[in-house]
Amino acid sequence: MDALCCFAPGRVELLGNHTDYNGGYVLSAAIPQGVRASGSKRDDGLIRLSTLLGEETLLREGSADASYPFVKSGEWSDYPLAVLQALRDEGHFLDAFDAAYRSDLPFGAGLSSSAALEVSTILLLSKLFGVSLSGMDLARLCRRAENQFVGVRCGILDQVSSLFGKRDHAIFLDCLKEEVSLVSFPNDISLLIVQCGVPHALVGGEYNARRLECSEAARQLGVNFLREADMALLEESQLPDLERRRAAHIIGENDRVLRGVEFLGSGNVADFGRLMSASHESSRVNFENSTPELDLLVGIATLTPGVLGARLTGGGFGGAIVVLVSRKDRHEAGNFIASEYERRSGHEAHVMECDLADGALIANGFIS
Ligand code: GLA
Repeated sequence: MDALCCFAPGRVELLGNHTDYNGGYVLSAAIPQGVRASGSKRDDGLIRLSTLLGEETLLREGSADASYPFVKSGEWSDYPLAVLQALRDEGHFLDAFDAAYRSDLPFGAGLSSSAALEVSTILLLSKLFGVSLSGMDLARLCRRAENQFVGVRCGILDQVSSLFGKRDHAIFLDCLKEEVSLVSFPNDISLLIVQCGVPHALVGGEYNARRLECSEAARQLGVNFLREADMALLEESQLPDLERRRAAHIIGENDRVLRGVEFLGSGNVADFGRLMSASHESSRVNFENSTPELDLLVGIATLTPGVLGARLTGGGFGGAIVVLVSRKDRHEAGNFIASEYERRSGHEAHVMECDLADGALIANGFIS
């Protein structure tokens, strides 16, 4: 069989921070950058994964015999192997194959390089071995792969965004119903993604710790998910300060997503931008998943001409911010933010001018 190639993009979270595993709402988009997985079947009983990192080829090789499972290594290859394992757990038969990965998505920037690795893998393996699953089932399997094999208890935002994105559209995701709809994004508005130069590490304790704090807050509020709570319930509760702030962030974010969808619908981009900045403030004060570098970047961005709002994007604790900017000012705004940030922090910022892009299902012809 000829080699196949599957592309899966990264994503940017526009509003709805840490709401996914709380059964809430998220507004996100696929971005043009992503991971490309090329591969073919082998006839020698081996699974061979490779990727280029600079000049160096990183390789992982093992038996395709399911009775000799791969062991977690803490490296990039855990993500494709996690997908392989999740497909097998669902009873799909996968034999020997080669997969080679290329990425123009920065790793550790909060743009879901891990989900892009998972999604490109699941599409490649589905095509190679004739597995037929719905888009949402693909997303669920990739999430399960990351939760169980990799050990990050993430929600479904990243995988859904990578799969369901559509050019010039934001993705509205109801994480409780696991339903997706698309929201048209105004043409004269665009995004900047600015990496703070300090990588984030999701495979660490902070993310899972926030998840536990949220479920503890939900338990004390007497709801299954924080999605079911509102500010009135929170105010009349006796929640300790930490859980109160975590819950306030999630309740506020859910509300901002719903209002944000309305603002986009009516073309009110100024108020949409204000919601993004309010979201960042809540991350800083309530959820404590920002960093001094991200706060500095957001502070500079919000004072930059043409910028309508800015916030951290993704899990937090480092990574990147997303900036809503008028398209005509985008280039100059990016240059200004980067030079001001470097001058004030000593770190090098990396700026990506970014349009809302097609997700993997469209990019690979699974849907049109
Ligand atoms: C990471 C996780 C997502 C989501 C975001 C925060 O990207 O993988 O599931 O929780 O953080 O919104």
